[in-house]
Amino acid sequence: MSGSNLEACSSCRACDLASTRKTVVISRGNPEADLMLIGEAPGAQEDAQGVPFVGRSGRALDQLLWEVELDPERDLYICNAIKCRPPKNRRPKKGELASCRLWLDLQLAVVNPKVIVLTGATAVEAILGIKGGMTQLRGQWQTWDGRSVMPIFHPSYLLRNPSKATGAPLDLTRQDLAAVQQRLCEP
Ligand code: URA
Repeated sequence: MSGSNLEACSSCRACDLASTRKTVVISRGNPEADLMLIGEAPGAQEDAQGVPFVGRSGRALDQLLWEVELDPERDLYICNAIKCRPPKNRRPKKGELASCRLWLDLQLAVVNPKVIVLTGATAVEAILGIKGGMTQLRGQWQTWDGRSVMPIFHPSYLLRNPSKATGAPLDLTRQDLAAVQQRLCEP
């Protein structure tokens, strides 16, 4: 997003979150990347800094990306389904997702990613319209708008489930991101 769209998004008051947020959290990374990652919503750190995935979840995410040789600033464009922090980090409401959708659609149009990673159930529901358990959905390639879409566990779930065992959520997420890395290399 750039120019007048960026300005309009940064001062958006389309939903009630405008009255509790500190900043509108739009994106980080490379707008020309082939890979776009969509999370749920900014948390406290993101709200304070105006940058997505910079708190504990973000650091966990970056580490996993580096492990499959994806550079978060060079190889990805990172954003969220909604751009403002919900109070106490509650899940975004349907109306908030709907109000914010035009900004996400604008980001998708500008970045035009070949591959999309959806982290967690909110992003999956927002893009794919699928309401379901992440345990079933993760690791299963989907297609949306002609693009390859990979649902993965949310990094905050991985922080709550830190087992390093084979087949544990962390291991499965590494496999999912490795599949994403491979898909990016395909013509
Ligand atoms: N969780 C998210 O989904 N997005 C962020 O930006 C931070 C935490």
